[in-house]
Amino acid sequence: MNEQVEYEEAIKKLKFYNQEHLLNRYNYLDEEKKQKIINQIKNIDFDQMKDLYSKRDKKIEEKDCKITNIDYIDKSKLTKEEYNKYYNLGKSIIEEGKYAIVTMAGGQGTRLGYVAPKGTFKIGGGVDKSLFEALSDTIKEAREKYKNSIPWYIMTSRENNNATEKFFEKNDFFGLPYEDVKFFKQGELPMIGIDGKLLLDETGIIKLAADGHGGVFEALDKSGYLEDMKTRGIEWVFISGVDNVLAGLVDPIAVGLSITNGTLATGKSVVKRSPDEKVGVFCKKNNRPYVIEYTEITDEMANAKDKNGELLYGESHILTNLFNIKALEEIAKNKLPYHSAFKKAKYMDSEGNIIKPEKPNAYKFEAFIFDAFESLEDMSILRVKREDEFAPLKNAEGEDSPNTATQLYINYMKRKEEGLV
Ligand code: UTP
Repeated sequence: MNEQVEYEEAIKKLKFYNQEHLLNRYNYLDEEKKQKIINQIKNIDFDQMKDLYSKRDKKIEEKDCKITNIDYIDKSKLTKEEYNKYYNLGKSIIEEGKYAIVTMAGGQGTRLGYVAPKGTFKIGGGVDKSLFEALSDTIKEAREKYKNSIPWYIMTSRENNNATEKFFEKNDFFGLPYEDVKFFKQGELPMIGIDGKLLLDETGIIKLAADGHGGVFEALDKSGYLEDMKTRGIEWVFISGVDNVLAGLVDPIAVGLSITNGTLATGKSVVKRSPDEKVGVFCKKNNRPYVIEYTEITDEMANAKDKNGELLYGESHILTNLFNIKALEEIAKNKLPYHSAFKKAKYMDSEGNIIKPEKPNAYKFEAFIFDAFESLEDMSILRVKREDEFAPLKNAEGEDSPNTATQLYINYMKRKEEGLV
């Protein structure tokens, strides 16, 4: 199709959706950008964007929703027999090369305020290692222990993919075989201004933003890496974020538990510190696995205790979950709901000025990984020790900051050296 025809089709589509402003800067773009914005207009599902905008401030509707607590197994309280049973089941899977890891590293790390990909952030306190290197160490150690390959799939975003790949190249993939480390980009959605108009980015094309960690399923599928996993004979896939340096990436117990329970997923949890801690907790919604967010839980539920005096809804979701490949295939077939967040977003106005807003000005739409749990009939929950498996890095200072994450990492390494973990 020639340029003029493509342009006219794009204008027609935009007029229909009341978004013609998106081509106001067209004549100022170079050829490459012109083609890019035309392709964006072709590919964007404007009906979906209209729908997302109209529901931007609404919570996702809960119809006839019944929340109940979910059973869990405490890893530290397993009997020797139970432990060995789960361990041996999981160990065979890993030894047979049927285990893979996915690290979600497409986030922007806004709260940390670090400009490069979060995985390249160095752990302080004399530990001269980036998050990526620390995770690589865990994988290398497991490869030696289980004497087989454990492919590692890293989800990046359009914005940080090049920097991430370059970082691995510069560091010789931290000693991992490069054919076992794969990168794939997550999906994106346009950002929408308060008035319902899509924004242009600083270069004059439509402003897109990463579609949330829930985008992992679709991105794995679209990138061809779900197929790659199947070709390699992978059966169990552990998925976690890049910003938990203690994530127990290779966990035979989680695999053994899922196999024993006949569930297609195991979510790892840590005990909620107090009823008002701002974390989502595992539960059941209409008898299906679910994570209820701290903004949704009632005070009564947050404070409810079980017969042992522990919080009934006390299993915090820490973004470390194991999935059977069949579950991933099923989940990838359906779209997860999108949640909206009101953010500050730099953009180009119709006169070509770059606007850097001081307060939130646009809606970003994100899918959350835990919204996939509901599509599973059941899920096992494995409670793990916070100090062994959870060192989140979110903020520049205070809670979940470089200081706290580094200290947790150092303490863990010390206990490991002493043979305590
Ligand atoms: P968070 O949303 O907690 O953190 O993501 P963030 O995006 O790194 O930082 P903020 O919120 O901007 O401050 C938790 C994990 O999920 C990944 C992140 O990289 C992190 O490992 N994630 C998040 C993605 O891979 N893609 C996304 O779109 C969002």
